[in-house]
Amino acid sequence: MTTSATTTKIPSRFGYASCLSCRECGQTYELGAQHACAECFGPLEVSYDLPRVTRELIESGPQNIWRYASLLPVPPDVAARPNTEPGCTRLIRADRLARALGMRALWVKDERGNPTHSFKDRVVAVALAAAVEMGYKVLACPSTGNLANAVAAAAARAGIRSVVLIPADLEPQKITATAVYGGTLVAVEGSYDDVNRLASELADDREDWAFVNVNVRPYYAEGSKTIGYEIAEQLGWRLPRQIVVPVASGAQLVKIDKAFRELSALGLVEDEQCRVFGAQASGCAPVAAAFRAGHDVVQPVRPATIAKSLAIGNPADGPYVLDVTRRTGGVVADVSDEEIVAGITLLAATEGVFGETAVGVTIAVLRALLAAGQLDPAAETVIINSGDGLKTLDAVAAEMPALPPIRPTLEAFARLESSLAMGRAGAA
Ligand SMILES: Cc1ncc(COP(=O)(O)O)c(C=O)c1O
Ligand SMILES: [Zn+2]
Repeated sequence: MTTSATTTKIPSRFGYASCLSCRECGQTYELGAQHACAECFGPLEVSYDLPRVTRELIESGPQNIWRYASLLPVPPDVAARPNTEPGCTRLIRADRLARALGMRALWVKDERGNPTHSFKDRVVAVALAAAVEMGYKVLACPSTGNLANAVAAAAARAGIRSVVLIPADLEPQKITATAVYGGTLVAVEGSYDDVNRLASELADDREDWAFVNVNVRPYYAEGSKTIGYEIAEQLGWRLPRQIVVPVASGAQLVKIDKAFRELSALGLVEDEQCRVFGAQASGCAPVAAAFRAGHDVVQPVRPATIAKSLAIGNPADGPYVLDVTRRTGGVVADVSDEEIVAGITLLAATEGVFGETAVGVTIAVLRALLAAGQLDPAAETVIINSGDGLKTLDAVAAEMPALPPIRPTLEAFARLESSLAMGRAGAA
């Protein structure tokens, strides 16, 4: 990592980012519109000459991700430009959920608090800032749903065109919550991986289109570091001992770990190990399968799960998820669709937090890891609620008990109550 030495350099249009470096062969490139290594086709990531950042400086910053702007590849005036101002979401102490699971100290990082109700607003805000610096004119993406919402909203706020490609069978809530912003929304007949392939071809063809998670991916992915920074700051400048993160492409998990290591290198937190765990749905678990098999490469799969936001069969960061989880002593595990629904309702009923299918995956994996003795119930643990249950209503609607309507009289209410009491007695 290039984060151990701090610099007194003046920030450039990409802040304190110094170069793009290949994650496979280490080759470095000037900052710009490049995402793959010319030598080995490996993915590029942003490296930095980080400045001397203090806790006080961060704490005096804005109540959004730009309080960490000096640790991101964005221009120094980024906070003043029109953007959706994501971040600073709640870290909820989840005592009732912890008790239900037999744990001692558990927190939920609740990403519903972002402008379009998922963590994707963070990555899009960073991608947009970098894309504008590089002269792109259109903000685009292939998406499993939440990214679509975030790109369409951020482009509307910045006054530029958006083009969003989605699989045609996406949840209706995610389609409407993208279309409302007025960009171009294209439903594609096929899986997310088909949509992603089309986006890559378009990115080669349309010079001034920034596909946030394709040709601007090195900048985009850095946005997820802010989840890690916030968790540490909200815990009183400490790292948790364990964290459970949902995995689709795997970028979120990898960047949360990168954030923790940067904070340690900068002396902002004690240099302690946080075990990083990855969560997938069994209907799309290529990384969990590779983890179990002890493989370094991830074999693509064809997804079939209610967790559509995580349905990426060929995950770009899959190998790096394996690296991070193995290095930190974590695990990547997967759970069934029934367990996912049970996870959603358990979180809602214990903490009043209605998360989307991705959090159902995360809670269910947490439960499975505890049962298998792979996660320490006594150690401080954070889980990510990456999106909002209101966008994936169909996943749980059929499971919800619906009482029959009654006439508006006390008598009718009393009759209903006694039938409910009988039902409870019968069930006991
Ligand atoms: C709600 C939600 N959680 C988690 C993820 C996974 O993120 P990543 O692709 O960075 O692994 C996604 C990605 O689409 C998502 O929409
Ligand atoms: Zn390379």
